[in-house]
Amino acid sequence: MGFLGYSDVICDGDKAIVYLGYNSMMSLKLSHGTVTQTKRGALRHSDIIGKKYGCRLSTLSDKGYVHLLQPTPELWTLNLPHRTQILYFADISLITLQLELKPGSVVVESGTGSGSVSHAFARTIAPNGHLHTFEFHEQRAVKAREDFKDHGISHLVTVAHRDVLEHGFGIDFTVDAVFLDLPCPWRAVSHAKKILKTSGGKICSFSPCIEQVQRTCEELGSLGFSDISTFECLQRNYEHRTVILPYPNLGTKTVSRDDSKQASPNPDDSSSLQDTGIPGTSTEARQGDGATDIASGTTTPEAGKPLDRQGETDREESDRNEGGSQAKRPKLCEGAPQDNKKGNSLNYPTKCAVPWKDMPGHTGFLTFATLYILPGGS
Ligand SMILES: C[S@@+](CC[C@H](N)C(=O)[O-])C[C@H]1O[C@@H](n2cnc3c(N)ncnc32)[C@H](O)[C@@H]1O
Repeated sequence: MGFLGYSDVICDGDKAIVYLGYNSMMSLKLSHGTVTQTKRGALRHSDIIGKKYGCRLSTLSDKGYVHLLQPTPELWTLNLPHRTQILYFADISLITLQLELKPGSVVVESGTGSGSVSHAFARTIAPNGHLHTFEFHEQRAVKAREDFKDHGISHLVTVAHRDVLEHGFGIDFTVDAVFLDLPCPWRAVSHAKKILKTSGGKICSFSPCIEQVQRTCEELGSLGFSDISTFECLQRNYEHRTVILPYPNLGTKTVSRDDSKQASPNPDDSSSLQDTGIPGTSTEARQGDGATDIASGTTTPEAGKPLDRQGETDREESDRNEGGSQAKRPKLCEGAPQDNKKGNSLNYPTKCAVPWKDMPGHTGFLTFATLYILPGGS
């Protein structure tokens, strides 16, 4: 199992992640004798058990294939059964960093919800830290406990079924950090203060609305917390692509300093310019500044302009042909990149990072604070 460490072979009872294709995955608890239907066809568990994580496996009907991945907290977040709204990597990573979680940390969390944050915390504090997670919805607490056992992390996590706003955390030791994902987090701040180490214990509260943040900050301030700060963590994903860019067109002629004074301001007037010999610099080459996406074979409207995630573009066929007329292309100089076997060079492949068209927006605000109580202080 991969929630805490790496294992090579898929075993009976493991929870594997079945990768079905781009943006499509599912989790699978393996058990001999079971068959599971997927959109790529049926999977017989006994065919999977004993194989190596990472392998590719054809489905029974031979309709397609899947890849079997080792589960990690990140993959679990993307595949867990949603019993509540959950937090994703961007927020979780900032929380983990700002709470200064590390192996050996002792952390309190409430509510447990679907356990998305809990899995990430458990991996970070392993092997000798502990997560105490509190959930007032009994079924959710029971399910979370089952998940932690299934995933081999139950020795790191204690799930308590408890209303922390009404009854506090009920523990008689201090902890390094408290994480709150509750509808009224300000009501839990005084309870958190009682269990936090006074030598720099950290608290974080996640809230979708700014009014919740305001109330929480007021409470943190009035209870003596320091370094109160709020972040909104927005994610911006980029996809790596190889696109064909036009070779830079620098004009056909060079202009000496003296000549440039008399040079025609009209860039199409090449009479005052001298031939540079640089490939792709003829004025004819100005036509068609398109960039072609190698994967899709399509052309972007202009170099650097984002494609959508499927590599689709509005660029029309005529644009693609524009500037591609072999007859008009200038001769290559030695070493210049080539775009086809005929030796013409106007375009060359290059790696680009293209932002996704659709990206996650606002999830919530993360408010952090620290509790320092100096000896003799309050
Ligand atoms: C949004 S969910 C937490 C999701 C979790 N952070 C995750 O990523 O999976 C909020 C949870 O807090 C629980 N909750 C709400 N009020 C509570 C209280 N007073 N005491 C304990 N848990 C509470 C809810 O039942 C719910 O499961």
